[in-house]
Amino acid sequence: MQEFLLGAATSAYQVEGNNVYSDFWLMEQAEHTSFKERSGDAVDHYNHYEEDIRLMKKAGMNAYRFSIEWARIEPEKGRYNDGAIAHYRKVLECCHENGITPVVTMHHFSSPVWLIRENGWENEKVVGYFRDYCVYVTAQLGDIMEYVCTINEANMRLQVTSVMRTMLKNMGVNLQVGMNFELPEEYAVGEREISEILGGVKKANTFMAPCTPEGDLLIMEAHEAARDAMKAKCPHLKIGLTLSLHDIQPVTGGEQSAKEIWNEEFTHYLPYIQKDDFFGLQNYTRMLVNAEGELPVPDGKQCTQMGYEFYPEALEHVIRTVSKELELPIIVTENGVATLDDQERIEYLQTALYGVKRCIDDNVPVIGYLHWSLFDNFEWQLGYSKKFGLIEVDRSMQERKPKESFYKMAAIWKTAHTRR
Ligand code: NOJ
Repeated sequence: MQEFLLGAATSAYQVEGNNVYSDFWLMEQAEHTSFKERSGDAVDHYNHYEEDIRLMKKAGMNAYRFSIEWARIEPEKGRYNDGAIAHYRKVLECCHENGITPVVTMHHFSSPVWLIRENGWENEKVVGYFRDYCVYVTAQLGDIMEYVCTINEANMRLQVTSVMRTMLKNMGVNLQVGMNFELPEEYAVGEREISEILGGVKKANTFMAPCTPEGDLLIMEAHEAARDAMKAKCPHLKIGLTLSLHDIQPVTGGEQSAKEIWNEEFTHYLPYIQKDDFFGLQNYTRMLVNAEGELPVPDGKQCTQMGYEFYPEALEHVIRTVSKELELPIIVTENGVATLDDQERIEYLQTALYGVKRCIDDNVPVIGYLHWSLFDNFEWQLGYSKKFGLIEVDRSMQERKPKESFYKMAAIWKTAHTRR
């Protein structure tokens, strides 16, 4: 039986630095950007990956989830970059040399700008484009890949699009997500700014993620097409996708709305993942709902830096709920907490990991836990202030400073096995 995968997760854009061909980079540069700060060199993982992977080994981890940046591999449509492939080969080799099983994500929010120029994830051609990119990577690197997540948080289209919504709001435009949106004449100045960089794109909502129901379907079609084509090339690959899931708890008559929200977050996607090899589960907190929908965090409850409730119990609940509807092996591909207090992170880890262990004891097929995140990193439009990391990084020197939690995680997992 394969050893339980215990490790941490990152995404290319958030840690590598200088992903200049991607849509997020473009948005960061725009005058009306909603990004608090620019990603810049990030934590320069692109150049520090060896040191970083060795550190993981030292902490007793045996798995690392990271993403391959499509915009690096295919900076222009149909032109693949050998240098980028060579880089990711070195990263994968380094994992293997250190006894770390790689879990590779093919698309973690950011897309190449050329794709956005063609209407991004709303263009049905994206299915073929994404499949071809995945097949190319598999042909080049499949021999040393093992677990693959096609698309990160495929159910986050509305939330991801909120980046764009905020940006348009800064321009004085209220974007209705779900519309095929065109900026009105009077905002031509703001529009020109973006469209000039983009080379004439009009539909502002096509950044990053689809935001219409048709686009939502395309993202799942892209997943299935990529999965099947990658499997055909490299049958040994284990392929899945990841969804962001709340522990949805109904209060006072909220059963029906809880069901509806869960359907939107999870059940809706079931038909497209039945043939996957595993399911990537991502969870951070719970959501309390009444008949009207989501409730604010109750007074007096501890919150994380993200403003949502500190509630590590959620993970066990979500794993159990998912396993009732889906028979696939589950990898927790993300779970973590944004906090300045590392003791809080240790507490979070302990509750979450003990919960995972209880699931396994009850024969729920959880095969891995990958903590978000290996480093304090670039939390998208919120910038660097949200501290999700097991490792702090002094970005002026790119110096790694492991926190207590970094070395404790493996010990906590061990302890979970000796408890009764
Ligand atoms: C989910 C996303 O996959 C990741 O990119 C993000 O940083 C974390 N959640 C924390 O918000």
